[in-house]
Amino acid sequence: MKKEISGNTLELMTGDITKQETEAIVNAANGTLLGGGGVDGAIHRAAGPGLLEECKNIRREQLGGEKLPTGKAVITEGYRLPANFVIHTVGPVWSGKEGKKEQLADCYRNSLQLASDRGIRSISFPSISTGIYRFPIELAADTALRTISAFLETRDFGNVVMTLFSEKDYLVYENALKKIGND
Ligand code: APR
Repeated sequence: MKKEISGNTLELMTGDITKQETEAIVNAANGTLLGGGGVDGAIHRAAGPGLLEECKNIRREQLGGEKLPTGKAVITEGYRLPANFVIHTVGPVWSGKEGKKEQLADCYRNSLQLASDRGIRSISFPSISTGIYRFPIELAADTALRTISAFLETRDFGNVVMTLFSEKDYLVYENALKKIGND
């Protein structure tokens, strides 16, 4: 499914984000930036050891050894990935509290802003926080798509792709996008 927003496009697809040829792909990382399971593990495996090295440098040089806070985003090269860049963002762990939605929205907003600041015009997102972090996917899809749409409405960005890892997830996002369109 593809939607035009103020001259930009928002596209939903099913696939493996490590294969995407957009200029940047987004990693659902954890604060340590040292890799993990899920999409984090897949991206590090596909990118190779250089990615971890650059992440460690970011921890030391940009974060003063601290963890990347939830909702924030940093950017690295893509190494062996087809994408030129990886934007790492830390999604909220679901706890049922209201504020988590805003933190998830920050992941999408800050990743898009970072890409825009770097002149990147195509980016792929996974469904942040809806795996190991157990965020309910219906709420995550609505939050993600509203945040991306609001960002695209006010600027000339290019293409945003949601790369869903299953048909089931794709249908949740497709329903959410249709609902937003009718608001
Ligand atoms: N391509 C696209 N999407 C993928 C891929 C892939 N190769 N692999 C997994 N996914 C999907 C999952 O199916 C889920 O829908 O990414 C979504 C996010 O799931 P997780 O990767 O578990 O990420 P998250 O829920 O944000 O939890 C982050 O998990 O891997 C650790 O280090 C990571 O601690 C962090 C936590």
